[in-house]
Amino acid sequence: MFDSNNQTLQVTVSQKRCAAEDTAVFELVPAEGESLPTFTAGSHIDVHLGDGMIRQYSLSNDPSERHRYVIGVLREADGRGGSRTMHDQVHAGDTMTISTPRNAFELNESARKTLLFAGGIGITPILSMARRLAALGAEFEMHYCARSKERMAFRDEITASGFEDRVWLHFDDGPEDQKLDISGALSDRIDDTHLYVCGPNGFMDAVLSTAKAEWPDEAVHREYFASDLDLHTDGDEAFQVKIASSGETVDVGANQTIAEALLGHGIGVTMSCEQGVCGTCVTRVLEGTPDHRDMVLSETEHAANTEMTVCCSRSKSPLLVLDL
Ligand code: FES
Repeated sequence: MFDSNNQTLQVTVSQKRCAAEDTAVFELVPAEGESLPTFTAGSHIDVHLGDGMIRQYSLSNDPSERHRYVIGVLREADGRGGSRTMHDQVHAGDTMTISTPRNAFELNESARKTLLFAGGIGITPILSMARRLAALGAEFEMHYCARSKERMAFRDEITASGFEDRVWLHFDDGPEDQKLDISGALSDRIDDTHLYVCGPNGFMDAVLSTAKAEWPDEAVHREYFASDLDLHTDGDEAFQVKIASSGETVDVGANQTIAEALLGHGIGVTMSCEQGVCGTCVTRVLEGTPDHRDMVLSETEHAANTEMTVCCSRSKSPLLVLDL
């Protein structure tokens, strides 16, 4: 059942399987009817896990499919609990509430060439992109790094995908000559090549810092994991936000987010990750200078200061005017 008011729907877990050490793959099908809302490569869904716990998972399957969503979940023993709940308490046959797909990691389908880099469970959106690019007949290369063969999810699917000749698999515990040479892979760039990277922070930083010197910011696309973020809040100060449509001014306390302050005045902002990685709460800024704390907007977008994530970013100026 699809609820168009709050954009949630009911799905049934049709399959749960072990895809690699500590990684489970869940196949979600409509609880009623035969088709799910369409999605584009790079999209994620919110999965409602009860007690207000909501987690984001990227869709890994082919965006042309309407009968299922496929997500991969890495069990994080030290995480915030979402992955443990998914692994331990969600089983085939269960009904779940999820959001409709949203995309903060969009694929430019008209690029002349695309380079895809995945680290660990970061493969999920990247695999969906590879499937889409292969279906389009587009030129692309994919590099997928894992600690070992046993920990590489979707390996069998990839090696039988039909696009396996464009995929390089790299294992931390394998011989030196198969390890990812980031500089070498990034040097193979023609005009209008776009780069997509998703994985743990260390992997992202290695790829992005190598790309920084040569690649234009608008050609580099990234998606971080929410659980990897460590937001620093020491020394935060109070400021004000003004609602452009009503003229109302709202105080944001030093220990409060903008979204929390707005909610206290009855102004709801749609949010998902609440950690600056999904892009759901991005809001236009009409005046003032945001203090960007997110990892979803690009450096160019941060520098422009025309939009911000109100779930975690703050203000450098005493007042921000928001297009709300
Ligand atoms: S809610 Fe995800 S970036 Fe703000």
